[in-house]
Amino acid sequence: MEERIVSPEPLEGDNSMINLRPRRLGEFIGQEAVVRKLSIAIESAKIRRDTLDHVLLVGPPGLGKTTLAHIIANEMGSNIYVSSGPVIEKQGDLAAILTSLERGDVLFIDEIHRLNKSVEEILYTAMEDYAVDVMIGKGPSARSIRLSLNKFTLVGATTKSGLLSSPLRNRFGMTLELDYYSVEDIEKIVERSSRLLNLKVEKDAIREIAKRSRGTPRIANRLLKRIRDFAVVEGKKVVDLEITKKALEILEIDEYGLDPMDRKIIKTLLENFKGGPAGIEAIAASIGVEPNTISEVYEPFLLREGFIVRTPRGRVATQKAYRLMGYLS
Ligand SMILES: Nc1ncnc2c1ncn2[C@@H]1O[C@H](COP(=O)(O)OP(=O)(O)OP(=O)(O)O)[C@@H](O)[C@H]1O
Ligand SMILES: [Mg+2]
Repeated sequence: MEERIVSPEPLEGDNSMINLRPRRLGEFIGQEAVVRKLSIAIESAKIRRDTLDHVLLVGPPGLGKTTLAHIIANEMGSNIYVSSGPVIEKQGDLAAILTSLERGDVLFIDEIHRLNKSVEEILYTAMEDYAVDVMIGKGPSARSIRLSLNKFTLVGATTKSGLLSSPLRNRFGMTLELDYYSVEDIEKIVERSSRLLNLKVEKDAIREIAKRSRGTPRIANRLLKRIRDFAVVEGKKVVDLEITKKALEILEIDEYGLDPMDRKIIKTLLENFKGGPAGIEAIAASIGVEPNTISEVYEPFLLREGFIVRTPRGRVATQKAYRLMGYLS
């Protein structure tokens, strides 16, 4: 599939974004409830000279789960080891990581809902008893020995907490749910990022970028960088509203943050299906994409913003969708 500028998932060119990551909790913008809970837990652990409880971070892509995992390690003054569910294939892989951890280390497992069952079972005793049982030998002479681990902190991240088994979920001391950011918070993030990029961006331009970023910091930072490219090429020292709008027009991101595929889905629903109800398969077939791509990549934002609704008989366009396409004023 072609790269989408408004994809909440990381893209290749995002690598240089790593230096835009806040390193301390105090620099982390928005998500006040999460920050408050986390800062109390960190403070308390430090006063008690204990390690931090295991933390589960839940939320859609691009909202700062990975950033928070690094912040946790930083604030605790610990090392962080980064891995992810699909990468840890065998029990032995996880056992090797766990036995190498020092007291207080943070083990970050991204996409933790994608761990396979047998690997997940190793985590249960590791999280609860700080021990792993490993099998020695094969066949009839095989036996299991228990290795004790240093007390560590597991930070798990998931976009799909519903897919997490309850034994795993219950072993986290704290579950923190991240939600989409308000336009105001995204403005602060864009302001901070432009400062770090040494880029002068006017206030109304910052607001315009924030409005089109789908409540997602990763998208906001990406748009900012693409707009900077336009300003550089046009020889502008300051990013103003005019160049911002021009850039976003060329990037084909509309004022709601919709890209051409989003608009095509809405248009198809309106014009080929009289606004619905229409099944995902039928819509997908008209456009020529996989039904899964629509339901997993495009639909969530359209539903969230209320351009379409889901009914038992299929997807239905809302008044907002008709207005978007100029059928209503
Ligand atoms: N609260 C914030 N303040 C400032 N910048 C942020 C904030 N949250 C996220 N960012 C920026 O957004 C980008 C994406 O964040 P991050 O990689 O942590 O997302 P994520 O939630 O882990 O996404 P994914 O689920 O796709 O892994 C980072 O480069 C970071 O600079
Ligand atoms: Mg991440």
